[in-house]
Amino acid sequence: MFNKIKLWKNQNNSTSLREKIEEIKKLPIPEHVAIIMDGNGRWAKKRALPRIAGHHEGMKVVRKTTRLANNLGIKTLTLYAFSTENWKRPKNEVEFIMKLPEEFLGTFLPELIEENVQVKMMGYKDQLPLHTLHAIEKAMEETKNNTGLVLNFALNYGSRAEIVDAVKQVLMDCKNGILKESDVDESVFSSYLMTSSLNDPDLLIRTSGEIRLSNFMLWQLAYSEFWFTEVLWPDFNEEHLLEAIQVFQNRQRRFGGI
Ligand code: FPP
Repeated sequence: MFNKIKLWKNQNNSTSLREKIEEIKKLPIPEHVAIIMDGNGRWAKKRALPRIAGHHEGMKVVRKTTRLANNLGIKTLTLYAFSTENWKRPKNEVEFIMKLPEEFLGTFLPELIEENVQVKMMGYKDQLPLHTLHAIEKAMEETKNNTGLVLNFALNYGSRAEIVDAVKQVLMDCKNGILKESDVDESVFSSYLMTSSLNDPDLLIRTSGEIRLSNFMLWQLAYSEFWFTEVLWPDFNEEHLLEAIQVFQNRQRRFGGI
């Protein structure tokens, strides 16, 4: 399995990295890792490049992160690629980000299929450009029977809107006799969210030094462990993901107990 891991730093690191992966695999791996991929714009600015260059570099990191997550045995990787608020950005930047799924899947879908990755998406599909939606739906269809890592893109996703929509649907189902008010509990409510087929994230990572959730998985992250790093997303590498997992493995999760 290690032979399959292509390292994305220099090869001198490979021995220690492989040892670290072995070490990490001895302890429980978070089943669901969610990442707020932040800092693309600042990465580009630091290099006097247009912001879109940062997003493009960030796309490459998505590929590398997916590969390592799959190799580690992480079951679900949810990536916040575009929020319902990101439409406020300049038109050219939005258009560029909306082309990234096509480029990403156009380039990497065969490898993802080979690696048994299942592609999913959560978010409001209606407002997505058709070319973006088609690329994702094609990937979802072609990988739907894969049993390895679930690569879940949060695209045009907003957690408050998701919760409000779930509340509306619960009310509607109660009104129509599909659901009884007395049956509504946390588990039933969860089944109305976009993440109904997924476990809640065990670990949330946010890059770029911002310490906030930005309307991401507000319900689902209730008991997740958080790991924040100053590293900008395009600079995020294997070492960082492994460090986050090691920190997770050293945390005591009590879920409100003692
Ligand atoms: C936040 O950084 C990043 C985004 C809004 C876009 C994230 C998208 C990717 C990493 C590529 C996604 C790839 C696929 C395949 C969908 P920012 O622009 O807010 O950075 P800043 O805070 O430094 O300005």
